[in-house]
Amino acid sequence: MTRIAVYLTGSIAAYKGVEVVRGLQKMGHEVRVGMTDAATKLVAPATLFALTKKKVLTDLWDEHSTPIPHIELADWSELAIVVPASADIIAKMALGLADDAVSTTLLATAGPKIIVPAMNNHMWQAPATQRNISQLQQDGVNVMPPASGRLAEGYTGRGRLPEPAAICQYIKDFLAAKKILQGKKVIVTAGGTRENIDPVRFIGNRSSGKMGIAIAQAAAQAGATVKLIVGQVSVDLPQSPAIEVIKITTTEDLFKVLQERFPENDILIMAAAVADYRPVDFADHKIKKKADDPNITLELTETVDVLKKIAKTKKKDQLVVGFAAETNDLLTNANRKLASKNADMIIANSVAGSDGAFGNDENQVTVLQKNQPPIKMARQSKSKVATKIIELISSKLKQGD
Ligand code: CTP
Repeated sequence: MTRIAVYLTGSIAAYKGVEVVRGLQKMGHEVRVGMTDAATKLVAPATLFALTKKKVLTDLWDEHSTPIPHIELADWSELAIVVPASADIIAKMALGLADDAVSTTLLATAGPKIIVPAMNNHMWQAPATQRNISQLQQDGVNVMPPASGRLAEGYTGRGRLPEPAAICQYIKDFLAAKKILQGKKVIVTAGGTRENIDPVRFIGNRSSGKMGIAIAQAAAQAGATVKLIVGQVSVDLPQSPAIEVIKITTTEDLFKVLQERFPENDILIMAAAVADYRPVDFADHKIKKKADDPNITLELTETVDVLKKIAKTKKKDQLVVGFAAETNDLLTNANRKLASKNADMIIANSVAGSDGAFGNDENQVTVLQKNQPPIKMARQSKSKVATKIIELISSKLKQGD
């Protein structure tokens, strides 16, 4: 049983929020409700009062009581759900505005939050809304994406509130996921390392960091305390109290941080694309073109195999997960890495072509573990892949092998 605060805001789909309240009650949760002014024009607060038998929070000023109603509700709730979330409440939350009962209570809520946006498709796609959504995600707010389908306006587009049953299932999964890594300390590496050639040039790779960041977020959502060690990434870094971000540049930097941090952690997930070679010499000045020779030779030497070295120091109760980025012979190469790197699990993904793992929002991975058949996952969003990887890691921890 979880204490859930459901906030209804001004979207025509507010009536479906009522169904969500009922669904959550049927699942055994204790539910209290807050409504914006606009929501009260669409659904009567009396309906929600009748269902919850609790006063519905609608006004910051309607009574002078202790404890202060909005702070009391914020502190009471173990989970806050904004359903439907209008463009207006999304903008307020992204900015931290607190000018009515719902926005103020949400700002005062320290616990996890889920928003389920519902609005006209043009409002959903508006750059301002998308900017606000991305800000909220960075702030650690969970966003259940709107569905596509027939909108109240009579035409089809993305912006529909998903069906109440789907929302309740999403919340159920969220609550189940929440606990599986509770109390665990996890290190996730993400992005690409860079090896300097001279003060202006480097050797790098095409990693965007999306997969590793999604894993860090999934681990945090599963209750873990996360250290995210990032090299070069092309997306925003998460801003969550459960995720500490540590920036590195080279493979050697990464190795040093892990040597220091790995011993006090339970799980290491090496999603970073690590440079295998670095220049033998670092030129302390910009290398100039030569007038008489069109060729240049750069001598490279191997970097340390971070995963292999760190996994060797692994204690019985620690778990190490590596990635295998392959362009060909995916499973043969990845199986070889499972053995040679002392990893407990290898996530094999293809980095070949335009639908390969690098830079895309989706990924198709196969999970390899010793003495177990490979698990081939369907192609899906990196955040879904991340959640499934976290589930597999959690069950492996429980098996204790
Ligand atoms: N890795 C590492 N240190 C390196 C190279 C890779 O820790 N110097 C880690 C990666 O983070 C990943 C795993 O090892 O978790 C496999 O990386 P990948 O690039 O697929 O393989 P390599 O070991 O580099 O082998 P190859 O280049 O031959 O595919």
